[in-house]
Amino acid sequence: MLKGKHIILGITGSIAAYKSAVLCRLLVGAGAEVRVVMTSLAKEFITPLTMATLSQHPILVDFFNPENGEWNSHVKLGEWADLYLIAPATANTMAKMATGVADNLLLTTYLSARCPVAVAPAMDLDMYAHVATQRNMESLRRDGVHIIEPGSGFLASGLQGKGRMAEPADIVKAVEELFSEKKKSLEGKHYLVTAGATIEAIDPVRFISNHSSGKMGYAVAEALAQRGARVTLISGRTALDCPKGVERVDVLSAEDMYNACCERFEESDGAVMCAAVADYTPATVADQKLKKGDGDMSIALKRTHDIAATLGQRKGNRLLVGFAMETENEQSNAEGKLKRKNFDFIVLNSLRREGAGFRGDTNVVTLIDAESREELPLMSKRDVAEHIVDKMEHLLK
Ligand code: PMT
Repeated sequence: MLKGKHIILGITGSIAAYKSAVLCRLLVGAGAEVRVVMTSLAKEFITPLTMATLSQHPILVDFFNPENGEWNSHVKLGEWADLYLIAPATANTMAKMATGVADNLLLTTYLSARCPVAVAPAMDLDMYAHVATQRNMESLRRDGVHIIEPGSGFLASGLQGKGRMAEPADIVKAVEELFSEKKKSLEGKHYLVTAGATIEAIDPVRFISNHSSGKMGYAVAEALAQRGARVTLISGRTALDCPKGVERVDVLSAEDMYNACCERFEESDGAVMCAAVADYTPATVADQKLKKGDGDMSIALKRTHDIAATLGQRKGNRLLVGFAMETENEQSNAEGKLKRKNFDFIVLNSLRREGAGFRGDTNVVTLIDAESREELPLMSKRDVAEHIVDKMEHLLK
């Protein structure tokens, strides 16, 4: 469950920090890659050397390395992580998180994190029971932070009551449950995903197509399947293997893709239209290879069906997500498509952005709906897919 997961372990200044060493060891042992961020006070409770050795990575405390001035980017760290786990989380740190204070690396990383965040509070019983702490925890819950409840028992103060940080093994269990909840969140749903390029035959040996590799659409199919959805991937020509747990329907032309989508849309809960579909196809397909003559040649083209627009008309309360590949007037063109095709939201990528668009493993996209736009930085297509599926889930709620 935790294999390959990227986890930031945040450690704040509490006596319970000694348990963070065991926690780190358990997470690494379960296959997670762990990066540790500590507050300066946390260093008084457990040494950076211990945590660096157990996590197999240098510890991050300051915004920059005082020896060489190298910047510790909280933004990059926030993007890298699948989970930000703060254990122990003091009353002070939770109060700052609840109000958006960002006066250390651990807190700026919290504000930059796009992943789920979990905290394991640790403090004395009166601090824990205080109305201010309870209010802050409630506010964090409302912000979507998962609270791993502390246990009851002997506290470092000598008092007895609720406030002990949960035991490391229990925290690992809570983390596993968090990942499996996310994984299963779309169980019972069925989505179509179109991907790749269509092929429009001119004659038996030539065709019109485009540069789509299918990577973006396959990443979306995989992300949906990993969250438990049934996925039918309607795929133009690509060299990719079908993601695990996904049903693939191979098509060639825009007409084939149109038929495959229309047949299945009714029984689905929606579609993500990632394929680069030809807008025009040769008016006639020659039976034999066209022979070259002395002069120029032109080929008459006719319009293909707009698959997305057709599904948009039949959408009902299904979710419909579109893509827009633009080379100019990106924003207005994408907004036009959003309305015309009746998408719930559209994923804009532009060929003018380095690292975006066809073939590569990365993309730079903006998610646009009727009310808002969210610009995402350069990231892997797989991470873009997670953001798209997050937004779909958000709209379902
Ligand atoms: O496959 P990769 O190499 O990873 O590249 C990814 C990608 C660049 C192909 C992908 O990110 C992308 O942008 N896909 C949509 C490309 C496109 O055709 O955009 P468009 O602006 O022409 O079309 C708008 C929307 O209508 C798209 O959702 C498209 O799938 C859909 N459409 C278009 C024409 C048509 N006849 N039928 C459609 O359904």
